[in-house]
Amino acid sequence: MTTGASDPKAKPEALGRVTFLDGQNELPMLEVSTAWSTAVIYLHGAHVTQFKKHDEPPLLFMSQCSRFTEGQPIRGGIPVIFPWFGPREGLRQHGFARVQTWELKEFAPAPDGSVSLRFRLPDSPEAAAFPPFTADYIVTVNQSLTLQLVITNLSKDAEFTFENCLHSYFEVGDVTALSISGLKGLSYLDTVGGSVEKTETSDALRISSEVDRIYQNASDTVAIFDPRLGRKIRVEKQGSASTVVWNPWIAKSRQMPDFGDEEYERMICVESGNVASNSISLPPGGSSTLTVKLSSETLK
Ligand code: BG6
Repeated sequence: MTTGASDPKAKPEALGRVTFLDGQNELPMLEVSTAWSTAVIYLHGAHVTQFKKHDEPPLLFMSQCSRFTEGQPIRGGIPVIFPWFGPREGLRQHGFARVQTWELKEFAPAPDGSVSLRFRLPDSPEAAAFPPFTADYIVTVNQSLTLQLVITNLSKDAEFTFENCLHSYFEVGDVTALSISGLKGLSYLDTVGGSVEKTETSDALRISSEVDRIYQNASDTVAIFDPRLGRKIRVEKQGSASTVVWNPWIAKSRQMPDFGDEEYERMICVESGNVASNSISLPPGGSSTLTVKLSSETLK
């Protein structure tokens, strides 16, 4: 089924469209096309697996070895990490939101050509361990990709403490050639080989080994300068106090069953959220919104 906007005054060529399809392993997916871009979103994890402007290479890296299986996370794109980040004793890494089938609640192709889709995390036995809450995820596709994760604590008397993170994997020409700006002066937890607190001294971070860092109190825009693909990517955010930078490098890539041995050369994760010491505590009835806007421009 394909559905476009119904505003008769809108120019037909400017209308965004949403098409419902069977994706890999017949998992349901939505293909969004706008005048500027295309995007693919799986209901499994409300996972954006693709965003591509018509005149650029794909923005998001997807592993050729990714699983597309219920109960398993997709490797690449933008996993939605919630309600915890990283390992948790006796529980799966990075929470359960990325392995559940989200409900599509509404989608709205707007007269300006944008398309917004709202997904909701269904109730589950895992969620029952927390105070009652709702998790909504709004994806807006146009010249850029905007993601909003809205968490509301429905409890009348209990605080809801959680972590969240939009774990974006970016496609790059060569990870050793890029530089990342916007992190200088921040303290970070360096989780490679332990968990040591350090301070970022570089205004143009380069990658030449495994990197796994949680930058704290990091609310500024981060930019990825990619000379090989001739592109600059901007990660703008609101309601996010943490930035995570991750590249598994050689040994870890070989250990991951759903990731190619050499794929670390073509990706970098710059993730936006609220993790570790920046986790969120919502009072009864409280709500929080994490907003991330991903955009890119071709370097002249
Ligand atoms: C990053 C973490 O966010 O996600 C890393 O900082 C982790 O420590 C990586 O290895 C991938 O996690 P997963 O569960 O998708 O393999």
